[in-house]
Amino acid sequence: MTTDLEGRKALVTGGASGIGLACARELAGRGARVVVADINAEAAEAAAAEIGGEAWHVDLSRTRDLDALELDVDVLVNNAGLQRVSPVDEFDPDAFRLLHDIMLISPFLLIRASLPHMYGRGWGRIVNISSVHGLRASAYKSAYVSAKHGLEGLSKVTALEGGPHGVTSNCINPAYVRTPLVEKQIADQARVHGIPEDEVVEKVMLTETAVKRLVEPEEVASLVGWLTSDAAGMATGASYTIDGGWTAR
Ligand SMILES: NC(=O)c1ccc[n+]([C@@H]2O[C@H](COP(=O)([O-])OP(=O)(O)OC[C@H]3O[C@@H](n4cnc5c(N)ncnc54)[C@H](O)[C@@H]3O)[C@@H](O)[C@H]2O)c1
Repeated sequence: MTTDLEGRKALVTGGASGIGLACARELAGRGARVVVADINAEAAEAAAAEIGGEAWHVDLSRTRDLDALELDVDVLVNNAGLQRVSPVDEFDPDAFRLLHDIMLISPFLLIRASLPHMYGRGWGRIVNISSVHGLRASAYKSAYVSAKHGLEGLSKVTALEGGPHGVTSNCINPAYVRTPLVEKQIADQARVHGIPEDEVVEKVMLTETAVKRLVEPEEVASLVGWLTSDAAGMATGASYTIDGGWTAR
């Protein structure tokens, strides 16, 4: 693997599990010093120890705590997220706010906190882990779909402002990835769709994709690796699907 991130510092939110952990490993493998930010302190410490990075125990839903933050990172991966599945007319208002705080407001505040350092160095890479649901809607996911659509807009505006300063900003849009987030969703999806749990992957998660399997976290991380490389300096303001053909429809 190339070590093109030697001397760079990276921050991965939700880096203790799933896609974030795969990204932390990828960036550390490319030579970056990686900060693993996560609400799960024990898992963040374990991930940081594994990759020779550092852990930042933080609850990213406490967005006011991030208002005055200053970060000295060269690479920012906004990845922390969670899912709630419920019809709009029954959606718990606090759950809606929670998803927006973690998946839209906190990425804004972390980008805001990182840009002065990136602008100062004339180089920066922001990767926002969006979703196929940043580009398409699915029933019962009003909070998630609206937060991810908002993240798409935030990423594009960041790309326009960051371009003259050597800072790129992009989204990655995976279909269902094999992570704990998806495993936790299976029971909820079975309930709202009225089908048995063992049919959820085939009948709900893989219906729209041409390639009939889940995405692997390492496949998303390899795209993050490329987007943070010098070779990707002209790749900005874009949304990179890795969705088995879902959005080709
Ligand atoms: N798994 C999928 O199918 C899939 C598909 C498309 C996009 N995504 C996106 O990828 C990202 C990562 O998802 P994943 O599947 O790896 O999930 P995951 O549940 O495996 O990991 C999420 C991580 O975020 C952390 N986290 C949750 N709330 C937090 C908070 N308040 N503060 C700090 N950390 C917090 C968790 O502790 C966990 O370590 C999310 O933004 C998700 O929307 C996932």
